[in-house]
Amino acid sequence: MINNTNKKIPQHVAIIMDGNGRWAEHRGKTRVAGHKAGVESVRAVVTTARESGVKALTLFAFSSENWLRPEKEVSVLMDLFMFVLTREVKRLHKNGIRFEVIGDLSRFSKKLQQKISEAQELTVNNEGMLLSIAANYGGRWDITHAAKKMAEAVKNGQLAVEDITESTLNSFTSLAAAPELDLLIRTGGDYRISNFLLWQAAYTEFYFTEVLWPDFDEKEFGKALDVFDQRERRFGHTGAQVINK
Ligand code: IPE
Ligand code: IPE
Ligand code: MG
Repeated sequence: MINNTNKKIPQHVAIIMDGNGRWAEHRGKTRVAGHKAGVESVRAVVTTARESGVKALTLFAFSSENWLRPEKEVSVLMDLFMFVLTREVKRLHKNGIRFEVIGDLSRFSKKLQQKISEAQELTVNNEGMLLSIAANYGGRWDITHAAKKMAEAVKNGQLAVEDITESTLNSFTSLAAAPELDLLIRTGGDYRISNFLLWQAAYTEFYFTEVLWPDFDEKEFGKALDVFDQRERRFGHTGAQVINK
């Protein structure tokens, strides 16, 4: 359990969980073994985030570009997703976590889509923490999808063009229910966003670590929270203005 006395806690944390394949390759194992090991890190981080008082946690599990991987790896990832979903949902529910999957779900099997909607329905009223898993997700897709839905609302007469603000567009994005994204973590040593949360990351703090995802645990998450606590967020103001506030 992390000691958070007087610490500034990010309301919304997102993680690009990268490095499973390299973790496995370093051990002479198949990439799939890395993905399996990564599931344990997901468990640890969900628990720690919840205990730390984080209100929303968004995890990048599968990008819209990851379909380009070898077919075998994609199919194992789908099976793993299905397996973990089946195994973990009751536990999430018991811990008061609301579960959501964000992304274009239409490309997933009917069975997986069914499991996802059951899990979402079961946990919809939970207020402990919002856990969003980004699967077949792309930041550009999210913005495009929101624009489409907004255009439909205009066409149906539910929305006037003059009334469109940033907050209107935000309400059509897949993380509309989550608070502002405060902290984005990327494991695995690469310094890029890989088409993850583009709209949401406008004023987010970034934390990059060399640690590979299967090695990312409660302690590593605590380090990221410590770094966040030390950051001065100015939102356009001067440093002096922020200190005086
Ligand atoms: C992240 O780990 C998991 C997914 C993208 C599904 P990678 O599989 O990208 O691992 P590396 O980057 O090859 O080590
Ligand atoms: C980003 O990781 C996607 C996930 C972690 C799910 P990738 O490993 O696919 O990213 P790139 O392609 O190296 O940028
Ligand atoms: Mg990778």
